Amino acid sequence: MRFIVGILIWTLSVTPIWSQKKTNMESPSVPLIGDPAPSFVAESTNGTIHFPADFGRNWKILFSHPRDFTPVCSTEILELAHAEREFEKLGAKLVVLSSDKLETHFAWKTALEEIDYKDRGPVKINFPLVDDQAYEISDLYGMSHPNAKRGKNIRGVFFIDREDRVRAIYFYPAEIGRNTEETLRTLIALQKTDDDFNVKTPANWYPGDPVMIAYPNTLMEENMKRDDSIYFQYAWFMIFWQNENASSAVP
Ligand code: BEZ
Repeated sequence: MRFIVGILIWTLSVTPIWSQKKTNMESPSVPLIGDPAPSFVAESTNGTIHFPADFGRNWKILFSHPRDFTPVCSTEILELAHAEREFEKLGAKLVVLSSDKLETHFAWKTALEEIDYKDRGPVKINFPLVDDQAYEISDLYGMSHPNAKRGKNIRGVFFIDREDRVRAIYFYPAEIGRNTEETLRTLIALQKTDDDFNVKTPANWYPGDPVMIAYPNTLMEENMKRDDSIYFQYAWFMIFWQNENASSAVP
């Protein structure tokens, strides 16, 4: 009898824990645009990481993977390593996590560094591969998609600015490799629009293309009437500035 009562008490005491866990899994909380980047401490191939504090006033790009030695993820890491200098030049640090253990991260890193991918020669992976075998960081960033096999969709990219705020997010499924060019383009566009609050980037924008003017002031409107105006428009609500290298101060 005491045994049955004991089982009953145990069942009642663990039920809320299980149901809470299920609820969390059903509603993963993704830090959204404008939110502070959740902080964590974790081991990585570059030692212990305090995120985002260790990366100071740099931009941070948090890039996640479900498992080491996965084929698509391997190509993404090789492409990131190849482009790392470009991220550095933009003042951005790459932080890559994978829901696997540190030993496997080191083995994956060594194997990747031996590959001559696209005949470019071997690359060094200087950015940290962060241990997330317990899914703690993935869960903190709402990356465990409840209707997918555990971990499968931990394939997010979080753009975090100098003030440690989330500025852009995207998720790709396991079947589709993320585009390093798009990661760079997003970063450059964020920096460009931060530099000038009045500038936006249109669809398919690439650095050097015309940018858009969100709120033309009177002097800009005057300039638009000139034949040699540096602005052009498709409609009153779609104004472009063709000389994006000039200062946005009204000419
Ligand atoms: C990959 O190829 O990277 C991959 C495969 C299965 C699950 C997640 C990722």
